[in-house]
Amino acid sequence: MEVAGSLLGANLLNLEEDVRLAEKWGIKILHFDQMDGHFVPNIAFGPAFVAAVRSITTCFLDVHLMLDNPRTYLEDYVKAGADSLTIHAEIQDDVLSVLREIHARNCKTCISINPETDPAVIEPYLSECDMVLVMLVQPGFGGQEARADCIKKLPVLRKMIDQLDRRIPIEVDGGVKLQNIHPILDAGADILVMGTGLYGAEDPEGVVREVKGELDARIARLGR
Ligand code: DX5
Ligand code: ZN
Repeated sequence: MEVAGSLLGANLLNLEEDVRLAEKWGIKILHFDQMDGHFVPNIAFGPAFVAAVRSITTCFLDVHLMLDNPRTYLEDYVKAGADSLTIHAEIQDDVLSVLREIHARNCKTCISINPETDPAVIEPYLSECDMVLVMLVQPGFGGQEARADCIKKLPVLRKMIDQLDRRIPIEVDGGVKLQNIHPILDAGADILVMGTGLYGAEDPEGVVREVKGELDARIARLGR
């Protein structure tokens, strides 16, 4: 169980400082939102941004591609230093072959589903996935409320994954805050992406301390 800091919520004028702070707080995963203005109605940030952060950190770089055509950019993001590339199940491409292309570049893979997508859609892709990402909001913007109907998908996925002989972590993204981690973790999440819930908090260090304390307690209790 881990918390991932989403740099969409960071202060872009002090990006280096916000990365250093995340490390100091004990964050091991940095989450990057990449948006093409088509798959989602927003634009952010490109491989150069990932490469810039890569040059100053050894954190795991978790790159979330909200792009209609991620296949075109895989090489660029791998070269930029991404450790994991997340693609969406909703893209109009052969999802399994895109996942294979990511693996062929020695990068980890993750498949994501939007709020309206049935978790069953993920099942045929699990053989090529190192992680799954459940959106708890409509992707595109930080600072939204996590949706209860999306949290309800987690136990369905948990059951699906627990039947496999391989452990695949479930990551959740959108609206995760200290105040709602309990129902989200109870539902089966392993990795919590936090943007405004972290960088927008009055005491981000305290948020990470509390969230990590809860995650450690659960690992001790549940063994995962
Ligand atoms: C939303 C992005 C999220 C975003 C989360 O489309 O995928 O990663 O940064 O931000 P918060 O935590 O503010 O909802
Ligand atoms: Zn994201």
